[in-house]
Amino acid sequence: MSNEPYAPIKVDLVKDKRYAWCTCSHSEQQPFCDGSHRAHDKPGALGFTAEEAKEAWLCTCKQTGNPPFCDGSHNSLI
Ligand code: FES
Repeated sequence: MSNEPYAPIKVDLVKDKRYAWCTCSHSEQQPFCDGSHRAHDKPGALGFTAEEAKEAWLCTCKQTGNPPFCDGSHNSLI
């Protein structure tokens, strides 16, 4: 992860693999869920399955309009 406060994280998605994208911002395993939402009484992860093997930029600012993917919304937070 970069030093930028709100920056997407590049991941290599595996075709047909199921992922749990963190929606609460508390996970220490960004951009993925580590279960921290339970301790913070926040909604759980957004589950998704990669339709193809590809490189993807996943959102960490949680403001994206196209979760789990970065849509550039983090730029308005800087
Ligand atoms: S990190 Fe880019 S929209 Fe959230």
